[in-house]
Amino acid sequence: MSSAPPAALMRAHLCRRYGGPDVIELAEIPRPVPKDDEVLIRIRATTVSAGDWRVRSLAMPPGFALIARLALGLTRPRQPILGTELAGVIERVGARVTAWRVGDAVIGFPGGAMGCHAEYRAMAANGALAPKPANLDFEEAASLCFGGTTALHFLRKAAIKPGESLLVIGAAGSVGGALVQLGRHFDAVVTGVTSSAHVELVASLGATVVIDHKRQDMLAAGATYDVIADTADTIPFARAKAALNPGGRLLAIAGIMGAMVESLLPPRDGGKRVIAGPAAERAEDVLTLADLASRGVLRPVIDSRYRFEDMRAAHARVETRRKAGSVVVTVAQD
Ligand SMILES: NC(=O)c1ccc[n+]([C@@H]2O[C@H](COP(=O)([O-])OP(=O)(O)OC[C@H]3O[C@@H](n4cnc5c(N)ncnc54)[C@H](OP(=O)(O)O)[C@@H]3O)[C@@H](O)[C@H]2O)c1
Repeated sequence: MSSAPPAALMRAHLCRRYGGPDVIELAEIPRPVPKDDEVLIRIRATTVSAGDWRVRSLAMPPGFALIARLALGLTRPRQPILGTELAGVIERVGARVTAWRVGDAVIGFPGGAMGCHAEYRAMAANGALAPKPANLDFEEAASLCFGGTTALHFLRKAAIKPGESLLVIGAAGSVGGALVQLGRHFDAVVTGVTSSAHVELVASLGATVVIDHKRQDMLAAGATYDVIADTADTIPFARAKAALNPGGRLLAIAGIMGAMVESLLPPRDGGKRVIAGPAAERAEDVLTLADLASRGVLRPVIDSRYRFEDMRAAHARVETRRKAGSVVVTVAQD
């Protein structure tokens, strides 16, 4: 009688209950086997994002606690492997895959499906994958999608036009840094709001004006904007309205429930409105971001780098809410 060969194993960080960084545990689990229309990626680098922090700790914007448990798992995350984005090398391709070959270097964005805090992940060959920009290392390449796809989504929803003024609050963060760079790419005039330590960084990303929120009230100078992108949940619409031009849009990216409700209301006070809600995950956005990065239009911003074994420390860094750019984790060296 022949017995099946033992399943190949991989290391993965598991989140089996909600809590602080120490709920993350390194374990050995079966390596995924790609279906006919999937590729198996050997992950070289990933990130710990604000999304991973929110899922692990269940620290949700006000009003979302119950909805989050229903969506993510009542008592523990249904998907125990966190991690929204990756860069790696294709190790196997499914029988029906023609678009990719073994050895291709790629970036991938499973997004809310997560599963990147592991040595391997299988992804649909026609999913959110793109060739890794050759000018970036794996850690830089892994950092493009979480902030980048969110920024693309909200700028698209705002229908930002050349010459419009864009205020980015939280301009040094993963989302904010991408908003500054992509806003400039779309020919908006960008003002960034950040803390003293990150003023130079935000200016180097393309902000024409940088406001240090430690030293001045970001709205006190009386300037008005066509679009205000708030990634730090700092100004409600009632306050933002005075700083919006007619037809202005508040992008409530870290949106609390109140902002979600306001986004359902028609434009008011001269066509001003709120845009909120989860960013759409589109495979073509990953291709766009990889292309922009390969042309030097979108520059990765790395806050800090961690070893795979130090995943808890990476989570702790993200939880400070003070990172600039991405916290990246090296999963494998070669
Ligand atoms: N709607 C969606 O689909 C969606 C998608 C992705 C992310 N998000 C949310 O967007 C938010 C930002 O994500 P992220 O990845 O960019 O986070 P992040 O990288 O941690 O950046 C947050 C930034 O906010 C700034 N900040 C903190 N407190 C501030 C304050 N009081 N005033 C002004 N700036 C402040 C910090 O910069 P300084 O230290 O320089 O102030 C930090 O760089 C999170 O809440 C995340 O959950 C939503």
